[in-house]
Amino acid sequence: MIGVIGLGFVGLTTALGFSEKGFSVIGYDTDVDKSQIIKNKEIPFFEPGLKQALSKHINKNFELSSTLKYLVDNSKILIVCVGTPTNEKGECDLNYLYSCLKDICSFHQEDKEQLILIKSTVPPSTCSRDVNKFLNQNSKFYNKSLFLGNNPEFLREGFAWEDFINPDRIVVGLENEIFKSLIKSIYEPFSCEIHFVTLNMAEFIKYSSNSLLATLISFSNELSMIADKIGNINIKEVFKILHDDKRWSGHPSNMSKYFFPGSGFGGYCLPKDIQALSTKAKTLSAPHELIESVIKVNQKVKVYSVEKIIKQTNSVKDKIAFLGLSFKPDSDDVRESPSKDIINLLIERGFKNITAYDPIANHNFKVTYPEINIKFSSTMSGCLTKANLIVINTAWSEFSKLKNQKVPIINLRNL
Ligand SMILES: NC(=O)c1ccc[n+]([C@@H]2O[C@H](COP(=O)([O-])OP(=O)(O)OC[C@H]3O[C@@H](n4cnc5c(N)ncnc54)[C@H](O)[C@@H]3O)[C@@H](O)[C@H]2O)c1
Repeated sequence: MIGVIGLGFVGLTTALGFSEKGFSVIGYDTDVDKSQIIKNKEIPFFEPGLKQALSKHINKNFELSSTLKYLVDNSKILIVCVGTPTNEKGECDLNYLYSCLKDICSFHQEDKEQLILIKSTVPPSTCSRDVNKFLNQNSKFYNKSLFLGNNPEFLREGFAWEDFINPDRIVVGLENEIFKSLIKSIYEPFSCEIHFVTLNMAEFIKYSSNSLLATLISFSNELSMIADKIGNINIKEVFKILHDDKRWSGHPSNMSKYFFPGSGFGGYCLPKDIQALSTKAKTLSAPHELIESVIKVNQKVKVYSVEKIIKQTNSVKDKIAFLGLSFKPDSDDVRESPSKDIINLLIERGFKNITAYDPIANHNFKVTYPEINIKFSSTMSGCLTKANLIVINTAWSEFSKLKNQKVPIINLRNL
C-alpha cells in the first residue's frame, strides 16, 4: 500500500517505520549496490535500530523491489525520499526528484488513484510551482487520478529510528481532501498531531526548522569568538549557565514567546545591550555579523510593518486606531518601544490622525515622547470610534478580544 522511493537515511527509516506500524511497504532505490546490501539484511550506513527493524520486516511487511514500475503498480501512496543536494549555483538540485517523478508519471495508471508524497526537503514553493507545472506537463492524469502532497521529515541522523517512531509533529502539505483520511490512517499509529497545511507551508516549516537550528549554532559560535577576544571567559561554562534559564524548559517552553514573529523587540535592555556588545566586538575586531544583523533586522521589521499598515489605508487623512504603546504586554515601559518607531514612521509618511490606546502605558508614552504628536484615548472603544484602520502593536490580552470590526485590523503581533 505504501511505496517508498529512495532508500537512504530518510527513505529506509520511513519504509521500516511504516512496516513496524503494521503497513505493507514496498521500497525501491536506483542504486543497485545499496539495494543488494539491504537485500542481504545489512544497513548501508550507520543508524542505530535500523538493522533489527530490517531483519524483522524484510520479506514480510517490507518488500524490496528491483523496479519502480512494480512499486507504482502496487502502491497507493508514493513517498519520495530521493536526495536533494546543492548544485554549483547554490540552488537545491531537483534532478533526482524530477527523474523519479517522470518515471512515476509514465507508470501511473488512470484507473488507480495515487498520491505522490514528497518527503525530500525542497525549497518553499517548489511543489506548488515547479513540481505542479512538471506534473501537468508529464501526466494527463495529474489532479485527476494522480495527486501531489508533501510531508517534510524532521528526523536526526543517529536518532533516525527513534525520531521516526516517536515524532514531535507530523506536517502534511495537502491542498485537496481526497487523500486526507488515508494520510490520517497511516500516521494514526504514531500518536502525534498531524498538521495539514498548504504545500508552501509544509516546505517553509522544514526550512524554518533547519534555519533556526543553524542560526542557534552560528550564534553560539559568534559569541565564542567574541569571548576569546575579550579573554578570561570559559565559554563552555557560559553556555551551560545559559542553558539553566528556566525559559528553555516546558512544552512549549517559555522561550517560544521570544521565538514568534511580531514587529520587533524593544524595552530598556535588549536594544541597548545588543548594541553595546556589537560595538565592543567591533572594537576588538571580533566577528559580530550575526548580532549586527539582529539589530538591522529589528529596524527593518518596523519599516516593513509601516508598509503593511499603509497598504491598508486610502489616504493619509485616515484615522488610525493604534493599540499598544508599551514594548510588551503586562508592562508600562515604553523605552525603545517599537510603537514609538512605527508611529514616528507613520507621521513621517504624512499620517497625522493617529489615536493611541494602551491599558496602562498612555501616560508614560506622553511624558517620554512629548514631541510625538498623536491623540490618546483612555478606553479601547474610544480609540476605535470612527477609525478607518486598527493597528495592534502590543500583545495585550485585551486586544485579542477584538473581533468583527468593520475596518481592517493590522495585527502586528500576530495576536
Ligand atoms: N539525512 C537527514 O537527516 C535528513 C533529515 C530530514 C530530511 N532529509 C531530506 O530527505 C531527503 C533524503 O535524504 P537522505 O539523507 O535520505 O539522502 P540519501 O542520499 O541518504 O538517500 C537518497 C537515496 O535516493 C536514491 N535515489 C536517487 N534518485 C533516485 C530515484 N530516481 N529513484 C529511487 N531512488 C533514488 C539514492 O540512490 C539514495 O539512496 C533529502 O531531501 C534530505 O534533505 C534528510
